[in-house]
Amino acid sequence: MNDVPNPSRTPRAQWNSRTGFILAAAGSAVGLGNIWKFPYITGENGGGAFVLVYLACILVVGVPVMMAEVMLGRASRSSAVDAYRKLSDPKSKWVAFGILAVVGAFLLLSYYSTVAGWALHYTYLSLTNAIAGIDAGQAEGLFGDLTGTPLIGVGWQLAFLAITMCVVAAGVSHGIERWARIMMPGLFVLILILLGKAVTMPGWGEAMGFLFGMNWDKLTAAGVLEALGHSFFTLSLGMGSMITYGSYLRSQDDLASASLATAGADTLVALAASMVLFPIVFTFGMAPGAGPGLLFVTLPTALAQMTGGAVLSVIFFVMLVFAALTSAIAILEVIAAYVVDHHGISRVKSCVGATIVVALFGVPATASGGWFNAVDYFVSNWALPLGGLGVALFVAWRMDGALRRKEFETGSALAKFYSAWLWTLKYPVPISIAVVFLHAIGVLSWIGSLMG
Ligand code: TRP
Repeated sequence: MNDVPNPSRTPRAQWNSRTGFILAAAGSAVGLGNIWKFPYITGENGGGAFVLVYLACILVVGVPVMMAEVMLGRASRSSAVDAYRKLSDPKSKWVAFGILAVVGAFLLLSYYSTVAGWALHYTYLSLTNAIAGIDAGQAEGLFGDLTGTPLIGVGWQLAFLAITMCVVAAGVSHGIERWARIMMPGLFVLILILLGKAVTMPGWGEAMGFLFGMNWDKLTAAGVLEALGHSFFTLSLGMGSMITYGSYLRSQDDLASASLATAGADTLVALAASMVLFPIVFTFGMAPGAGPGLLFVTLPTALAQMTGGAVLSVIFFVMLVFAALTSAIAILEVIAAYVVDHHGISRVKSCVGATIVVALFGVPATASGGWFNAVDYFVSNWALPLGGLGVALFVAWRMDGALRRKEFETGSALAKFYSAWLWTLKYPVPISIAVVFLHAIGVLSWIGSLMG
């Protein structure tokens, strides 16, 4: 084991083009967060106004942090931990943020693969026509069987992790980029087909009103903070993922525009997923605020009653699997790249080892809801906001200013926004993240209760 990163053997891998980076980064960002979580939290928060706040959070906080993360990676040509070292000094305390990112990636993948396994299971159910004709009670029964029978869930989870491992083990351009080039366009086509169907449904108008009508009275302070927190999760920020992917970006590529395009693709998919789900939900007079069960109970119930529902449900769940897979690949790559860079172990061995450790943590997450929630709580409320705060503070206040400017401006169509970006990263971003963080860990409500 060597302490100093040892890049001596082969030159660092690179994406083949800027598009390759954007597809891989969008693959990381577009995931269960977009198709499963965004619609259901929008439903819980009453739609319209929440969506607008979410868009503002993406643009004002998410995009600047994404640019900073990609920059950390490209400027250091290192994965999460060594990026901080190389851009400050070898003994720097900033490294703690990198370590937190790698630990967070282990934990995130351990329960992300649970839900991804459900998506595989539902693809299978759709293909075998097991969803056809079921009513609400039976749909709940199907989901209950899955969550109540750990062996089924664990089987699908391990299958999902095995596929993820094979892609990452094949390398940056032969594995990750190649599969992103297949699955991301595939995902866009599938969602467009579903959107084409949704537009024709009787519930379309009501869904549009729900998603884009400005019902400010429904918006709560907690909803605003949830939108901000989710903008981090959905853009894959705070977990070293964009640092790692940025480290493979060619030095001549426009980093700022590529980040913006990635965030744009992520936002479009989140909106499109909602524009597919809610018309279906409203057409069948169902509740938009069903929470996590929206996708696995409400949707199958509705699809079961639709003509062509069987085909639509295959399309939907395959799309969900694509989304989950490209994200899981990015999470595993955070760990694999760290092990390869830092410990000089081969990529294949790193992937196998990391997957085994993830599975050890992940099986209890699938088997026990309590463990699942605890890990999700730690990752979403502690690891991601702290990781994002670390990135913002480091790039804004610690990183060398000349290097930062060069990284941002080189070849960039957005060069004139450098100062605005830096200012945002210095003040509004850390303050907002700090507020979300304090809220998430309960400090704000504690202060509120003190004040009466
Ligand atoms: N963005 C992913 C989603 O929306 C989830 C995610 C969070 C993620 N952090 C990540 C994916 C880091 C890859 C890497 O589902």
